[in-house]
Amino acid sequence: MEELMEPVRTLIDFKKGVVNPDRIIERRASDMQGMYSDDLALEKLLSQDNPLIYQVREINIPKKSGHIIYSTTIIYPGKVGKEYFMTKGHFHTREDTAEIYFCLEGEGYLLMQTKQGKVSTIHMRPGVLGYIPPYWGHRTINTGKKEFIFLALFPGDAGHNYEVVEKHGFAQIMIEENGKPILKDNPKYTPVSG
Ligand code: F6R
Ligand code: ZN
Repeated sequence: MEELMEPVRTLIDFKKGVVNPDRIIERRASDMQGMYSDDLALEKLLSQDNPLIYQVREINIPKKSGHIIYSTTIIYPGKVGKEYFMTKGHFHTREDTAEIYFCLEGEGYLLMQTKQGKVSTIHMRPGVLGYIPPYWGHRTINTGKKEFIFLALFPGDAGHNYEVVEKHGFAQIMIEENGKPILKDNPKYTPVSG
């Protein structure tokens, strides 16, 4: 029999995310090279202050089937050119695993895509739960003026596969036009074959 794990209590501040996380992952402009449609705009940001784009606050839960891992993500407000600050986005290594995103603060979009290029979005604001079914890659985008914060819950053995997104991109991007977020085809997207 597996060793019995003790229950875990986690405090979540709706305006700051997980309080006292075991690990904080920070992604700055320099970690997002190639992810935005406007490479020049990203370079400009890099040469200025290389801003923090998002932060993930995680609790150590075993990365094993049967467990549920949870974390909060804070995406800061801002844009690279016309494109809003966003997460890298990924598919799960175990593609048949789902995920739940629950919005705590701010607003934005959950952008999802299958490997066949089908796209779907959910507008997130506090209280909205987005269910990401198995096989959908996912990225979140802060289209608001303050921090966009959400809680993510996913199977322990889901894993992260960033390669597909790094290589092919998402089929659509979210940019600001006339002060509003709109979805546009991503000029850098290349379809995943097979
Ligand atoms: C876990 C998950 C989230 C993201 C986080 C950062 O499966 O979807 O916790 O990992 O929002 O986004 P990425 O991982 O795309 O940099
Ligand atoms: Zn995920």
